[in-house]
Formats: sequence, structure tokens, C-alpha cells
Amino acid sequence: MKQLVIKAFGDASQLVLVEESSPALAADQIRVQMHYAGVNPIDAKTRAGLGWGAQAIKDKLPWSPGFEVMGTVLEVGAEVSIHQAGDRVFGLLTGGGYSEKLVVPASCLLPVPDEVSDEMAAGLALAGATAWQGLTEHGGLKAGERVLISAAAGGVGHLAVQLARGLGATVVALGSSANHDFLHNLGADEVFDYRDSAALESMAPVDLFFDLVGGTSGCSLLSHVKSGGRVVTVPTITADEVKAAAEPLGLTVTGMLKRNDTQHLELLMQALAEQRLRVEVSQVYPLAEGAAAHRQIETGHTRGKILLQG
Ligand SMILES: NC(=O)c1ccc[n+]([C@@H]2O[C@H](COP(=O)([O-])OP(=O)(O)OC[C@H]3O[C@@H](n4cnc5c(N)ncnc54)[C@H](OP(=O)(O)O)[C@@H]3O)[C@@H](O)[C@H]2O)c1
Repeated sequence: MKQLVIKAFGDASQLVLVEESSPALAADQIRVQMHYAGVNPIDAKTRAGLGWGAQAIKDKLPWSPGFEVMGTVLEVGAEVSIHQAGDRVFGLLTGGGYSEKLVVPASCLLPVPDEVSDEMAAGLALAGATAWQGLTEHGGLKAGERVLISAAAGGVGHLAVQLARGLGATVVALGSSANHDFLHNLGADEVFDYRDSAALESMAPVDLFFDLVGGTSGCSLLSHVKSGGRVVTVPTITADEVKAAAEPLGLTVTGMLKRNDTQHLELLMQALAEQRLRVEVSQVYPLAEGAAAHRQIETGHTRGKILLQG
């Protein structure tokens, strides 16, 4: 089977396609033919040697990125009863998703309903879990509140817009002007260009700021949060910087790391199946073109999700 790996940290050219044999199957594992793997900023940051992800794998190179996948079960281990060969499955991995075949614990992948396309299922898990946990568990968003979502057209943001709307909040979305129609169509109530400071000044204050950009951008938007309001800052690398700027303003600020929660993935998949949520897949790259996909995610201006096709 073909697998994309890095042998050393560095730029996107470090991603190389290698031929590996698919490992033997343990009793609690399944073998899956990968159809699509989601490409996320964490993949590129870890490849580059940045953040907690790189710390975790620095002594385990070569390493294959890929934290979310969709595929078809090829084979199940002797003790597996929750899946059978032919099932369509999706979910979160601890890495290694950029592989034609995967051997993973059966419990880490969940069924994909017939109504949901392979592509939408592939792009749901990581961004969806982050958006849901950020808005609800960390942000405590309630119906009738105003929520500001930065990077609203991106992987996490475009799902957060829809989920926040579904929770009954008024959604204020930030994106470049080329994304304004897209954001309105997702259900955003108010849309601002984050580069237009005059327009931003007219924004009424919000109860919750879901910060998907972090750093200087995150800090500069804190003045739009109501006195006593809440901030969830998602990029971990700049979380301390945003916390340090928010706390003197009397805001409650939380950093977060999404976790793998089966109930959350089921709830998100149900929303896809019932068309209350959709995943925008803006581009699909062959597995062999993983470097191009990383260069795209590193622009910071991807609309929705990009995928690798196995
Ligand atoms: N802590 C966690 O557990 C966790 C989980 C998931 C993601 N993350 C982090 O969260 C961040 C967002 O992830 P993502 O997957 O949504 O990224 P993404 O898909 O790459 O985000 C791209 C979007 O960012 C927008 N953008 C870029 N600069 C902006 C700015 N200054 N203000 C407002 N929007 C801006 C772009 O909009 P335009 O094209 O309109 O400019 C684009 O639509 C990343 O840093 C990622 O690593 C953390």
C-alpha cells in the first residue's frame, strides 16, 4: 500500500510517497480502504515541526500525517462485531490517515449513513468536533446570544457558523469579501470583512468570540466582546498570547484541544444525514499530491475543507 510520510520536519516537500505493507490485524482491529483523508492545519504544523503535535512524534519519524478519514471496511478482527466488511466508516485517528489502507481499533471509526457522501463524511470529524466542543462545552453558547466567529469560511468556521445558527444564536461571521455570499448561504446573520476596520467598528458587541485565527488577530477582536463575555481561542500555539490580552479586560478566556468523543461525532453525522449541516469540500487532491494540499492549507485561505483521495 502507498503511504505519505515525512522522514524529517520541514516544508511540504518533506512529504514523500512510500510503499509499505499493511500490518497484520489484531482481534479488536479493522482494516480499512481509505477513500478520503481530511487535510487540516495541524497536519502541516506538525510536518513543519511546530506545536504539541510535533513534540509528540519527534522521536517517532518517519511519520504519516492524517487525523481524520473516511473509507470502507475490508476485513475485521476476530473479536469485532460492530463493523463488517463493506461498511462505510469515518472518524478521528491519532495520525497515519494519509495511507491507502489503515489498520485501526474498530471502536475508533463510526458508520456513515447512506444519505451522506464519502467526501462530506471525510471532512466532518476534526473540524466538526472542534466547532461543536468549542461552541458548547467551552463556549457555553445559548440561544439568543451573539457569537463572533473568525475564519468563518474555513474548515472549522464554516461548520461553526451552521452549528451556532442551529443552537439559536445570532452569528456574526468574519471572512474576506469573496466569501461573504458563501457565509450568508451557510446562515450567518451578519458578515464582515476582517480587513475592513471601519466596518468592524460598526459591529454590535458579542457574548462569545470563537477565535479561529489567534495571535494578533485574536487579540485585536477582543474589544468586540461584551463586558464579562467569553472567548474560546482555538489555535493552541497562540492561546497564551490571547489569554494574556483577554484577562485584563475581564473576559473569560479558554484555550481548547478537541477530543475524540463518539457521541459528538454521531450527533454531527446525524445532522449531515438530515441536511441540517453540510461540509463544503473545496478541493480534492490525489494522495500523491499531498505536498500541494499542504501548500494550499498553509495559505490560510482555504474555503471549507480539502481532502486527499486514497
Ligand atoms: N485546538 C484544536 O483542537 C484545534 C482543532 C482544529 C483546528 N485548530 C486550529 O484552528 C485554526 C483554524 O482551523 P481551520 O481548519 O478552520 O483552518 P483553515 O480551514 O485553514 O482556515 C482558513 C480560513 O481562515 C480565514 N482567515 C485567514 N486569516 C483570517 C483572519 N485574519 N481573520 C479572519 N479569517 C481569516 C480564511 O478566510 P478568507 O479566505 O476569507 O481570508 C479561510 O477561510 C487553525 O489554526 C487550526 O490549527 C485547532
